Amino acid sequence: MSRLLIRNGRVIDPSQNLDAEVGEIECLIEDGRITDLGADLSVEAAEVLDAEGAWVVPGLIDVHAHLREPGQEYKEDLATGGTAAVAGGFCQVACMANTLPVNDDPSVTKYILDRAEKESPAKILPIAAATRGLEGEVMTEMVALREAGAVAFSDDGATIMDASVMRRVLEYSRMPDVPVIVHAEDCRLRAGGVVHEGPVSTRLGLPGNPAAAEEIMVARDIRLAALTGAHLHIAHVSTAGSVRLIQEARDRGLRVTAEVTPHHLTLTDEATAGFDTSTRVAPPLREAVDIEALRAGLAEGVIDVIATDHAPHASYEKEVEFTEAPPGMLGLETAVAVTLDLVRDGLLSPLEYIRRLSTNAAKLLGVEGGALAIGGPGDVALIDPGREWTYDPIQGFSKSRNSPWAGQRLTGRVVATIVDGRLVYHHDRGVLIR
Ligand code: DOR
Repeated sequence: MSRLLIRNGRVIDPSQNLDAEVGEIECLIEDGRITDLGADLSVEAAEVLDAEGAWVVPGLIDVHAHLREPGQEYKEDLATGGTAAVAGGFCQVACMANTLPVNDDPSVTKYILDRAEKESPAKILPIAAATRGLEGEVMTEMVALREAGAVAFSDDGATIMDASVMRRVLEYSRMPDVPVIVHAEDCRLRAGGVVHEGPVSTRLGLPGNPAAAEEIMVARDIRLAALTGAHLHIAHVSTAGSVRLIQEARDRGLRVTAEVTPHHLTLTDEATAGFDTSTRVAPPLREAVDIEALRAGLAEGVIDVIATDHAPHASYEKEVEFTEAPPGMLGLETAVAVTLDLVRDGLLSPLEYIRRLSTNAAKLLGVEGGALAIGGPGDVALIDPGREWTYDPIQGFSKSRNSPWAGQRLTGRVVATIVDGRLVYHHDRGVLIR
């Protein structure tokens, strides 16, 4: 029997509203599952992990990442993406359907799960396409995809522009009863916009993408969620107007959930002023008023989770003119350090912060985890909120380097990650097991 005992940490578990003093509670994992949580557990022959005062939290869960396999392994694959995930404290990662081929067929879903089982230290949760080839026309076989292991459906960046197709997608998603995730953006209104439309886009002379392009689709999809009763999940919310629409939907009792990324919570369109192509993301970085609304929405529970939208791209693809660069930035390895300001600024308690990075995500996707519950999976992250470090994507685990935080001093670090009771990542010891 394998036994791992975690002691000397501050155990935080949102699922049971538990935030214990350092050293008060220990956590025992046997054969991959949590079997005890209590004071002074003395267990023979257990491997002991000293948390050294760090937070001991349920393994983080990312509901939105791009791991690029199959088809674009030059950007990322399930091994490197899964390793970047555990280095960022994530034990489970949902990966988007915009692979090559698109994950619109059970054979692709199974391929991803098979490869992940062999290659990834993190658990991978495939999101299948809602329509064939992400073309917004012909629906995929949702029940078969669900049976193959898909946890949600999404056409990712390719908005389903035809409302009648979107209605059917939502209706049919009720059978496997999994969320439909939308990148809400009217692509015709976005036109060629590469940054947020406003004073900064005018100053830089870059084509703008107005907030209305997002808000129109958020409003439409909320109407369709009301019509169908389906679970609609809105990806990477970026504007104050979207937060208001989601708030209204929640007040009406609709099954609408939402996520926000670390970058939309922390960077404005001013970050694009130096034409650093790593700041080109979809949806674009917005204005300070939007950040305020996103932070408030997250704190008040209108937005359920922080999701990375980890989007690796090769250097040669990003080292081009701003308008030519593909949208996206890395997120898995920096998510915690970048968002811990929410706790430092007093917006979220550590418990509520972890709820949004783990417990709510498990609930949203209907997967095990997100809790330090006896009988549950031994997925745990250790976070030292005060540790300073310099992020260097070259030293990191992703294959790509497109991060605006490259070379920056950050505060807050994941020091260890345990998946199914196995220590897969330990920063100080350099332990890394696949
Ligand atoms: O920034 C983004 N990158 N947004 C998307 O919708 C797609 C993603 C990607 O695949 O790179």
